[in-house]
Amino acid sequence: MENPLHPEIPSADAARAAQLAAELERHNELYYVHNRPEIGDREFDLLMAELAALEEQFPGLRGPASPTQRVGGRPVEGFLQVVHDPPLLSLDNTYSEEELEEWVERLGRFAPGRELSFVAELKVDGVSIALRYENGVLAQAVTRGNGTLGDDVTANVRTIRSLPLRLADAPSELMLRGEIYMPRGVFDQLNREREEQGEPLYANPRNTTAGTVRLLDSREVARRKLKIAVYQLASDVGATGHADALEKLAAWGLPVLPTWQRCAGIAELRAYVELWRERRRELDFETDGVVIKVDSYAAQRALGSTGKAPRWAVAYKYAAERSETRVRDVTVQVGRTGTLTPVAELEPVLLAGTVVKRATLHNYEDLSRKDVRKGDTVYLEKGGEIIPKVVAVRLDLRPEGALPFEMPTACPVCGEKVVKYPGEVALRCVNAGCPAIVAGSVAHFVGRNAMNIEGLGDKLIEQLLRKGLLADYTSIYRLRLEDLKELEGWGDKSARNLLAEIDKSKSRELSHLLFAVGIRFVGDRAARTLAEQFGELDALMAAGAEELQRIPEIGPKVAEAVVAFFADPHNRERLEALRAYGVGLRQTRRRVVAEAGPFAGKTVVLTGTLEGWTREEAAALLEAAGAKIAGSVSKKTHLVIAGEGAGSKLDKARLLGVEVIDEATFRQRLAL
Ligand code: IVH
Repeated sequence: MENPLHPEIPSADAARAAQLAAELERHNELYYVHNRPEIGDREFDLLMAELAALEEQFPGLRGPASPTQRVGGRPVEGFLQVVHDPPLLSLDNTYSEEELEEWVERLGRFAPGRELSFVAELKVDGVSIALRYENGVLAQAVTRGNGTLGDDVTANVRTIRSLPLRLADAPSELMLRGEIYMPRGVFDQLNREREEQGEPLYANPRNTTAGTVRLLDSREVARRKLKIAVYQLASDVGATGHADALEKLAAWGLPVLPTWQRCAGIAELRAYVELWRERRRELDFETDGVVIKVDSYAAQRALGSTGKAPRWAVAYKYAAERSETRVRDVTVQVGRTGTLTPVAELEPVLLAGTVVKRATLHNYEDLSRKDVRKGDTVYLEKGGEIIPKVVAVRLDLRPEGALPFEMPTACPVCGEKVVKYPGEVALRCVNAGCPAIVAGSVAHFVGRNAMNIEGLGDKLIEQLLRKGLLADYTSIYRLRLEDLKELEGWGDKSARNLLAEIDKSKSRELSHLLFAVGIRFVGDRAARTLAEQFGELDALMAAGAEELQRIPEIGPKVAEAVVAFFADPHNRERLEALRAYGVGLRQTRRRVVAEAGPFAGKTVVLTGTLEGWTREEAAALLEAAGAKIAGSVSKKTHLVIAGEGAGSKLDKARLLGVEVIDEATFRQRLAL
C-alpha cells in the first residue's frame, strides 16, 4: 500500500523509518530521562545512521519530530520573533520566611473561606522557554524575551535530548513553560575545555545557557548538552490543579523535576524551603530559590494576576552567600596556550564555609565591565555555584587614587608583546619560549590522559625551567641522570625512578600523544578518534581537512586545527625530535573493521546479555574479526548472537531465517 501523502515512498521504508524513530526516542528517554540505557552508544548511532540514510533517500520522511533533528541543522541567519499572547508573566519575589508567611496570609484575605493548599518546587536558574506541542509533536519553542516578544529557537530546543519530540497520547494542543539549563558538570567540562584551548572562561551556567539557546548554529547547541525542566502547563487539559498537571506532564514523558511537593500550609512550605537550602548544592543544576504555587486552578482563577505576575505564585529566593573583602592585587595568569587571565588576589575571607584567597576575573572584558581596581573592596558571592565570584565593587569604599586596571601590552611572565586575535576576547602571549607556556604545556604533556609521566609535577617543572633544562616538552626525553641528581631534594633513586617513568611513556599509544601535544580543540576523545582512524602519525599528518571531516565526530573546527598544527614547522620539528628519542607514534588498539577474520564481510547483530563481555567489548572483538555491527535485524543481517534474555530481535531473526548462535558458539568461532 502506498503512503497517500508521499506516494514516492515505499511503504516498507516508511514503516521502517517510523519504527526506527520510535525506537530511537525510546532509547533517548531511557538514557536521558530515566538514566537506564538498554543499548550502547554505538548501537544507538547505528540506528540513527539507518534512519538518517532513509530520510536522505526519501526527504518526505523527515518530519519535525524525527530524532535526526536532535543533532541540529544548518545555521540560521537570525531568529523569527514571536508574540506571546497572552504575555508570559514573571514572579514576585520574597526574600525571607516572614515575607513568605505574609504572602500566604494575604492570599487568605483575597480568597476568603478557601482552605488553600500549595505546590512547592525548585526554581531552576536558567532560561525561561514557552513550548507548544501540536498533535503530540513539538512544534515551537520561544524564549520568554521581554514577556511579550520572544525568539523562535525551536531548532535549538529540539537538540535537548531529555525533551520528547513526540508525546504519546497527549492532547492535540499543549502549551507549556519550562526552564532550559546547563548542568554544572557540562558547564565545568566546557570551561575546562576552554581553559585547555586558551579561551576565556564562561562566567556561570545561566549566562552560558542563555548564549547557547541563542546560537545560530543548532549543531553547536547539540554539543552543549543542555537540559530542560518543564514546570507549568498553560492549556486546558482537564487538570484540576497544578499538582494534577505536573503528574499528567510527567506521565506524557515530559521532564518534570521530581523534587516538587504538595504543602498544606506555611509550616510545610517553610520545611520545604529549609530542606533545599543546603541540599540544592548537591543537585546537578543551579537553583536560586523555590517557587510556591497555589495548587487548585479554581483558586488560581479567583486570585488572578497583576499586570506582571500571578497572585497565586511567588518565588522565595535564597540569599546568595556573600562576603566582602579587599583586593590586594590584580594579577595575571598565563595558561599553557598563552591566554592571559586576570585574577583578583584577595584578603582571605570566609565564604560559605571555605576560605577564599583568589577569584578569577575570567577575562579582560569582564574585568573592565566590573572595573575592579587594586585596593577596592568587593562583594564576593557563592550562589548556587561552587566557584566564588566577584560580583561588584563597593564604590563608596574605593580608596582615593585607585587606578583603573590597565590591559597588559606585554606578557607578565616573559615580557614579550601580547596579541589579540580578531574575533577573540582573549589576550595572548605568543612567545613559544615563554616560561609560563613551557611550564603549562609540559604539565599538560605529562598528565594522566596524556603521556602519564608520574613524578614530573609542577615543582620539578619549575626547577628544571630555572636550570634551563626545559625548552619545550621534548626536553623531557633529553633529561640525564646527572641533571636530576643535582636538583635540590633529589637522590639517585628518585632520579632513576623518574627516568624509568619517562622511558615507559615512550610506549604510550598515539592517542595519548596527540592529546599531549595540545592541538587546539583536540581533547582526549577527539585524539582517540584520530589515532584509531589513522593508526600512525604519518598518515594523520598527511591528511587534509576534508579527509579529516569525513570521520564521524570530527567537525570542521577540529579538522582545521589539526591541519594548522601539522603545518607549523615548530610542531613538526618537535614531533621529529620525539620520534628520534624513540617515542612510539602508533596506535595498536584500532577500531577499524578488519578485512579478514572469521567474521569478515558479515553483518552481525548482538542481542541479549552476554556473560563474558559487555556489548561494547563484544562489538570490538567482532569488528576486529571482520564483522560489521548492526543495531537491528533485517534481511541483510547474516548472523545474530543471542545472549541471555534475547527478545524481539531473536524472534525477528527466526522469522527471517537468519542464523542465530549462542555465546558458546560465538566464543568458538572467535577461537577464544
Ligand atoms: S513559574 C506564571 N516555576 O523563574 C508562572 N518559574 O523569576 C511563572 N523559573 O520566568 C513561572 N523555575 O523562568 C516557575 N519552577 C518554576 C521555575 C520558574 C524557574 C523561572 C522562570 C520565570 C522566573 C521568574
